[in-house]
Amino acid sequence: MEPSWLEMRWARPLYLAFVFCLALGLLQAIKLYLRRQRLLRDLCPFPAPPTHWFYGHQKLLQDGEMEKLEELVGKYPCAFPCWVGPFQVFFYIYDPDYAKAFLSRTDPKSKYLYKFLIPCLGKGLVSLEGPKWFQHRHLLTPGFNFNILKSYVEVMAHSVNTMLDKWEKICGPQDTIVEVFEHITLMTLDILMKCVLSQETNCQTSSTHDLYVKATFEASKIIFHRLYNFLHHLDIIFKFSPQGHRLQEMVKILHQYTEKIIQDRKKLLKNEKKYGNTQKRKYQDFLDIILSAQAENDNNFSDTDLQSEVNTFMLAGQDTMAGGISWLLYHLALNPEHQERCREEIRGILGDGSSITWDQLGEMSYTTMCIKESLRLAPPVPSISRELSKPITFPDGRSLPAGITVVLSIWGLHHNPAIWENPKVFDPSRFSQENSDQRQPHSFLPFSAGPRNCIGQQFAMIELKVAIALILLRFKVSPDPTRPLVFLPQIVLKPKNGVYLHLKKLPCY
Ligand code: HEM
Repeated sequence: MEPSWLEMRWARPLYLAFVFCLALGLLQAIKLYLRRQRLLRDLCPFPAPPTHWFYGHQKLLQDGEMEKLEELVGKYPCAFPCWVGPFQVFFYIYDPDYAKAFLSRTDPKSKYLYKFLIPCLGKGLVSLEGPKWFQHRHLLTPGFNFNILKSYVEVMAHSVNTMLDKWEKICGPQDTIVEVFEHITLMTLDILMKCVLSQETNCQTSSTHDLYVKATFEASKIIFHRLYNFLHHLDIIFKFSPQGHRLQEMVKILHQYTEKIIQDRKKLLKNEKKYGNTQKRKYQDFLDIILSAQAENDNNFSDTDLQSEVNTFMLAGQDTMAGGISWLLYHLALNPEHQERCREEIRGILGDGSSITWDQLGEMSYTTMCIKESLRLAPPVPSISRELSKPITFPDGRSLPAGITVVLSIWGLHHNPAIWENPKVFDPSRFSQENSDQRQPHSFLPFSAGPRNCIGQQFAMIELKVAIALILLRFKVSPDPTRPLVFLPQIVLKPKNGVYLHLKKLPCY
């Protein structure tokens, strides 16, 4: 009888390879099964919404409607596990005591979100860990000191006024509907470029920077999509997917933009040195700080480090601010009584707004309460996450093992009905001194807290105050009822269809 092909000599290695692959696959399947069983056991004390065995809660949160999250926050006190596929869990927390326990530790940032950000940002402050993060943070903190921030007030006011001049031209004497998010985005880019990088770009009046802005928008959308699509967690699948390709294109645009900023500054410094005409800037900006650290010791800060930090600050400081100012304006449009009260306060302090100083910003107490209430209702960074490096026990005695990805939902925390009465209502009095003193400080965390808090939070508060003060002096804003604001919860909160407002030019005061 003819021997079967399996008995042929040449078939043997093939056969062995097949058995080896099968065994490997089986081993992997057993590992994944055990992982799932272990997760189910560990998460047993925390009830979860009904889940699909394969997709988990992917559909629930990927579509990104905040109402769904708010429903879950009301239904599951403190926390709930959110399954992303059959083997991965993002453990959502939104209780102040949980947040306090979580932020007082030094767990590394979760490998999912932050690893996905690396192609865009490189390894800068947002994604670095350990001694290198500490070294960068220590080096860059002086860039946000009191004296430097003080000198930014005038620069910010100039950029805001440029935007308002544009609005005046668009509106004329009429009350006109304007999509303000695009304008505000360019204005925040202008401020960031001038304050942090000392670059005069005229990006508000020329359209040469639109490509960069569009690329940040699209990149952030793709990264968020990847986060909640577990098959795309695998680099090999994502890289060859249409979204992976598109992200590479966006990354190229973003990097070319920041690369040019760095090269221009290096050229300028070289020329200044060559011709001995060093032009003293008013303050040491972010690039000066890094370049002088590089000059002292090349090993401390490589060119890659430099580019990563520029990418990081450009993205961390621009999208967040554009959202923060737009949401605030929208909330004041929806609540004309608070808008009027802010305007009165601002007129009392600034008069016609022809100049604005640091000290005057400190006097805007009611406006500051409105800013905080807006940051509560619509936190520009809706969540942050870490991977537990050791087990954690929460104040109610429930615990989680090491290795779990914990997501602090800032949105969930700020809408938690157990802390905030009528959480959807815009009520600035929540932030009166008296009411704030009575609250657990970890109830309100727009800038996070602990060692990894936002390095730009003072900068952000100043920019918010300058922008809102100057806008309200020149314009009355009201909502367009046909186009309500819908949020897209990406890494940074975005408007789904823009922010449309009626703008009415006010007579000069
Ligand atoms: C309203 C505006 C802003 C909000 C709501 C905001 C919020 C946050 C939050 C929640 C974090 C923590 C992120 C995490 O733990 O993963 C953070 C970190 C950070 N923010 Fe902001 N931010 C704002 C503006 C800015 C500005 C204007 C800058 C820079 C000019 C900036 C630069 C950074 C950087 C570099 C980090 C990482 C800090 C570190 O890990 O050491 N942010 N921000």
